[in-house]
Amino acid sequence: MDDKRRRYENDRIAITFSPRRCIHAAECGSNLSAVFDAGRKPWINPDGGEPNEIADTIRKCPSGALQYERKDAEPGEAPDARNTVRAVKNGPVYVRGNLEILSADGELVHRDTRLALCRCGDSGNKPFCDNTHIEQKFEAPAGMADRESAPGTEPGALRMTLALNGPILMSGPYSVVDEEGKVLFESEKGALCRCGRSSNKPFCDGAHKQGWTAD
Ligand code: FES
Repeated sequence: MDDKRRRYENDRIAITFSPRRCIHAAECGSNLSAVFDAGRKPWINPDGGEPNEIADTIRKCPSGALQYERKDAEPGEAPDARNTVRAVKNGPVYVRGNLEILSADGELVHRDTRLALCRCGDSGNKPFCDNTHIEQKFEAPAGMADRESAPGTEPGALRMTLALNGPILMSGPYSVVDEEGKVLFESEKGALCRCGRSSNKPFCDGAHKQGWTAD
C-alpha cells in the first residue's frame, strides 16, 4: 500500500507528508499557514509554529496525508475515542479512530487514525481516495441510508477488510456521523461500497459483481 512519506522536522516535532494521500482538504493551510503554505518551497516549515498547534492542525487532516511524531516529551497522536465514518457528498468516505485495513485474506496491511477511502471505484491509489472522483463527476449523497442502530458492545479497533473486487467489510464499533459530527447511527458490522456502482450508497448492494475490479 503506497504511503511514501516526506519528512520535515526540528528537534521538537517531525511532520510527515504523503503526497499520494493528500486530497487538498486544505485544513492545514487554513488553520496554520505559517507552517503549511502550498505556495512556498518547501511547503512545510516545522519552525513556523509551536508543536502543540502543529499537532492540533494535523489531527484535522481528514485523509491522514499529514502525520506527526513528537520529539519532545509530549505523547504522539492518540486515535479518536470513537471510531467514526462520514460519507462526503460526491466524494470519499472519511474514517477516523483506531483503524486497521486488512487484505482479503485477513492480513493486516495498514494501521491509521485518519483515512479518506475511495468510493467512486476509480482511484489510482486504492483503497485511498486520490480525487479521481472529481474528474469522473462521481455522484453520491453525503448522507447514509436509514439503518437501525446496533451499537458495538466493546470499544476497540475498526477492522476494514478489502474484499476481493468487492466492498470494504467493517468489523468493530463505529458511529456514522454527519458533517457536523452528529451521530446518525451506530454499528459494528457493514459493507461499504467501493466500486461506485451501488444504488444504496454508501453501502454495497452487490453491483460490484457486474465486472468491477479493484486493480
Ligand atoms: S462494492 Fe460497490 S456494490 Fe459492492
